Amino acid sequence: MNIEFRPVREEEVDDFIRAESRGFGRNATDAYLAHGNRLIEADRTLAAFEGKRLVGTSTSHTLKMTVPGGAAVPTGGIAWVTVQPTHRRRGINTGMMVQQLHRIHERGEPLAALWPSESAIYGRFGYEMAAFGERWTVERQRSALTHSPEEQGQTFFVDSWEARGIFPDVYQRVFSVRSGMVTRNDAAWDDELSGAPQGRSVAEIFYVVYELDGRIDGYVKYRIDRSQSRLIIFELVTATDEAHAALWKFCMGVDLLDTVEGNNRPVDDPLLWMLADPQRLRRESQDALWLRLVDAPVVLAQRRYAKEGKLVIEIQDSICPWNNGRFQLDGGLDGAQCRPTSASADLSLSVADLASGYLGATGYSALQRASRIQEHSVGAIKLMDEMFATDLKPWCAHDF
Ligand SMILES: CC(C)(COP(=O)(O)OP(=O)(O)OC[C@H]1O[C@@H](n2cnc3c(N)ncnc32)[C@H](O)[C@@H]1OP(=O)(O)O)[C@@H](O)C(=O)NCCC(=O)NCCS
Repeated sequence: MNIEFRPVREEEVDDFIRAESRGFGRNATDAYLAHGNRLIEADRTLAAFEGKRLVGTSTSHTLKMTVPGGAAVPTGGIAWVTVQPTHRRRGINTGMMVQQLHRIHERGEPLAALWPSESAIYGRFGYEMAAFGERWTVERQRSALTHSPEEQGQTFFVDSWEARGIFPDVYQRVFSVRSGMVTRNDAAWDDELSGAPQGRSVAEIFYVVYELDGRIDGYVKYRIDRSQSRLIIFELVTATDEAHAALWKFCMGVDLLDTVEGNNRPVDDPLLWMLADPQRLRRESQDALWLRLVDAPVVLAQRRYAKEGKLVIEIQDSICPWNNGRFQLDGGLDGAQCRPTSASADLSLSVADLASGYLGATGYSALQRASRIQEHSVGAIKLMDEMFATDLKPWCAHDF
């Protein structure tokens, strides 16, 4: 079998979308073809061909990701990854994923990220869980709040075309303060508000905003599932605590339903601390965003650190050789530098393990307890935990 890897041409994009859809066990509908055509940048695809036949698909979206300290770092958002069921387990995905990383590096994007369908696929390529989300189910009858900010503003419905003009500003405000958030470009907004990502028609989806003093501080996008008597929140994004409380209250106040289900909630969503009966909140953790440090020393220098510190980190990376070696990180609240060094290492870890705590989702000591990191200088991992700690937990609102 001779496999050629190359980007698809514009005239091949429909075939690419059809192949991807088959890879997930569906035949592409016209709506799905429109969805793919809105989002896919043909020159960033990397497909696998056997002769003329498309047997593997992948792409990377042009994104920026907020990292601790607020920098927006260019990121390749890997997506649309499939290998045809006729061609699986022959190394085709490995070929695509390795080449994608090299192409992302050549473009000067130091990060790559993805939302995996299965968590066993991407660790071997240096990705690791780096921002979690939670699915929350709240029983409406037990959703009284004992604590919440006083509300001065109001909630109201908007149409999808109004939402298109309003939501991006709210999203941008959250993007600028929450690490793990990625940019959503115009095409992705058009797509998001078309109902397509949820496989729904626009008629089934509702948009509600919270306004205070003429400014929109938050929005929720949801649908009603009468068959299971629930309101399903697709996205609830708020730039203030007041908007957060108001929109949750709105959702829990919609009549004739038993439960409210919130998908991909931030792990530090304060609703838990507002409920009178928090035991009735069911929480299911999900490994949302996986991160790949494509250029590890570059991204280590781009974030800010909660505590001033100096560490020599030895990184192992079998796919991106430029990451291999020892690097001295000098970081603090005001800036950071990361340079190759010949000094002895304080700790050694794989590039994937380094990614897991990069945004602040977890302390490295947890990975040490899982026998994943080696400490060479006593106290190095404790210092690393203190340096990499963040006030807010990372969260990615956009499943690309
Ligand atoms: C996941 C998928 C792309 C893998 O493609 P593939 O070409 O078969 O993968 P490879 O042959 O390169 O496999 C590389 C390694 O990953 C492992 N692997 C691949 N898919 C895996 C999975 N779903 N679960 C666990 N391991 C997996 C293989 O066993 C192989 O391991 P080995 O080298 O130790 O034998 C393919 O199975 C697929 O299209 N699945 C359905 C769509 C999907 O889930 N896409 C991912 C979207 S995020």
